[in-house]
Amino acid sequence: MKDQDLEALLQDLSVEEKVYQLIQYQGANYSDDAVLTGLLDQNHITPHELGMAGSTLCIWGADKLKKIQDAAMAIQPHHIPMLFMLDVIHGHRTVFPCPLALGATFSPELVEECAAVAAREAAAEGIHVTFAPMADLVRDARWGRCMESTGEDPYLNGRMAAAMVRGFQGDDLRNPDHIAACVKHFAGYGAAVAGMDYQNVELSEHTLREYYLPAYQAGIEAGAKMVMTGFHTYNGLPCTGNAWLMRDILRGEMGFDGVLISDYCAVNEMVSHGLCEDLRDAARVAMENGVDIDMEGRSYAAALIGLVEDGTIPMARLDEAVRRVLKLKNALGLFEDPYHGASETQAKAVVRTEEHRALARRAVTQSLVLLKNDDAILPLRPGKIAFIGPYLEDADLRSAWSFSGEAADNRSVRAAVKAQAVRAGWEVRFSQGSTLLDNGTRHALGVYRNDDFLLENQRLCAEAVELARWADTVVLCLGEHRLQTGEAASRVWLRLPEVQQKLFSAVAAENPRIAVLLFSGRPLVLGEMAEQAKAVLACWMPGTEGGDGIVDVLSGSVSPSGKVTMAFPFAEGQEPMCYNGYSTGRPQVPGGPSEYTSRYLDCPNAPRYPFGYGLSYTTFTLSEVSLSAKQMTKKEMITVHAKLENTGTVAGTEVVQLYLQDLVGSRVRPVKALKGFQKVSLQPGERVDVQFTITEEMLRFYTARNRFESEPGVFRVYVGTDSSVEEYLEFRLVEEG
Ligand code: BGC
Repeated sequence: MKDQDLEALLQDLSVEEKVYQLIQYQGANYSDDAVLTGLLDQNHITPHELGMAGSTLCIWGADKLKKIQDAAMAIQPHHIPMLFMLDVIHGHRTVFPCPLALGATFSPELVEECAAVAAREAAAEGIHVTFAPMADLVRDARWGRCMESTGEDPYLNGRMAAAMVRGFQGDDLRNPDHIAACVKHFAGYGAAVAGMDYQNVELSEHTLREYYLPAYQAGIEAGAKMVMTGFHTYNGLPCTGNAWLMRDILRGEMGFDGVLISDYCAVNEMVSHGLCEDLRDAARVAMENGVDIDMEGRSYAAALIGLVEDGTIPMARLDEAVRRVLKLKNALGLFEDPYHGASETQAKAVVRTEEHRALARRAVTQSLVLLKNDDAILPLRPGKIAFIGPYLEDADLRSAWSFSGEAADNRSVRAAVKAQAVRAGWEVRFSQGSTLLDNGTRHALGVYRNDDFLLENQRLCAEAVELARWADTVVLCLGEHRLQTGEAASRVWLRLPEVQQKLFSAVAAENPRIAVLLFSGRPLVLGEMAEQAKAVLACWMPGTEGGDGIVDVLSGSVSPSGKVTMAFPFAEGQEPMCYNGYSTGRPQVPGGPSEYTSRYLDCPNAPRYPFGYGLSYTTFTLSEVSLSAKQMTKKEMITVHAKLENTGTVAGTEVVQLYLQDLVGSRVRPVKALKGFQKVSLQPGERVDVQFTITEEMLRFYTARNRFESEPGVFRVYVGTDSSVEEYLEFRLVEEG
């Protein structure tokens, strides 16, 4: 539709029609043949209201959505098509590794491909908008939503958020293979106090701008059509009613002109927050502060017509919000094709194809992080191997936030091992070893109950010990339950369920040659396991192809290359943590005094595994780091050179990382900050020159003058294979002339 026709349509709408464009209802309001019967009685929504709504969330399926679309367009006086939105977070039917794992690939190219496949599958099943990427920076592993983030670093998160937006949206949203992206949760949601979901966020403006905003900005600059507010309060105001965040920063400074949607019921929740008296007040505050769509909340439905009719909300503001929604529908081509190319035939052709599964398998192999590998126990040599643990049998490797993926489509580790064992020369035996969860947790999560819990675990453990005695090597498949991660899944203990820890100890007492496959949606506290196991491979929540991808790495057909993107602590008390904080006035200096410095008395300051860390089956040597100049002006650049050599015996891939430190600034500067990385694959003995270019833009920060700019002075350059690199070179940024 042409812009002027869109504007004419807008002007022709009644207030009721306009308001309903801003209302989004749950897909759960529809039964399977939604259009005929329609509603869940308890929600008190009439078929008329449901059909008038501008959008629906969390429902998919080509035929179903087409029916709903037809019915809605018939109800709407101007036959405006509805938008269908869903959390397509890391895949649709083909489930890719969770975002924390995708971050570990350090490959924006791969992440873009995964997002493009997710978009193709979701679009074929009727989806127009995904609530992704989640660009929230995370530093606190207690927060369950770490699994939805790509980690603790603003630069990496920005690269990944932009890659996801490009993958989802492509070049033209009319293309039926693409869907619109929604950057969330604006802003700073990952910094919830004490890692408790929905808690308020206490961040200085400086920290918010330097660390938390860049990834949202990168997603917006990549063209994201939608942004979602956060549930939390920032600076004493819920984000959904926060004029500074939404009007000044998002619309003003970032220039975002797309649709701003509230998080689920976040408009209503301003009443619980104590900012608003009732739903009417909440609708007013959200509208005044720029929220266009009220997701599932009933505030706009309850009060917006009245607020416009009595002049509280000006018609111009209503028009602004509706115009944005109509523009998005137009960008997707819905006025010409309200189904956006969705059909059962198209879905059959694109959903979970061999090609998509192959991509998912590749993504798994690249996301696994080898945390430890003593005696080169991995890859597994031919011999007798006992595969033990609750994650062995579990085909449900999806993680939370994969609504549309199905457990039945996943291949378990056990099934994948069986398929590859003969070729690898493994004589394999399997044992479950323990339940996945402790009994108490099982009840809390409502997973299932078992009154014979103790007896069952004693029996499973005894079987496992027997198997460990037989084996040359034991592979223990342990981890968190997928429901222990994701939204509202905060934890204060970051250890494995007790029942699995007991299994580990019993097996280790029998056979010390243990490789642990660790499944989790967050960094965990590994305790003694990290010392006692010979190898630990972080497998995250790997998705549909988890089993096969993991076995590819166990067998050595692929060498692991993933890198930690969120530090693994020694103890929960270290949280929150990050490699790139500010120095205190009394930092702990290697070799220096430790009394009266910033330190814990009972735990190292550093994490067990820092950001950027991960081993390979081969070894790499990084040497001859040099700078093309010792000084640059703002218009000049410096080239960093380093030699990377594969000094081992097998092919492998390393991520070379560039960190900078600004020694003195008008505001304190991070002790180190990632500014570039390169993923390099080398054959044994191969050696290459790796280059980075330092530009003035990379030196900018939010200065005491309240703007992003660089300041002359000395900078340190670190090139390493993780963030703990200590050797550096220096250069000086000077004024011109
Ligand atoms: C989450 C959002 C999600 C929305 C819709 C909310 O509870 O915070 O991230 O997009 O639900 O499912």
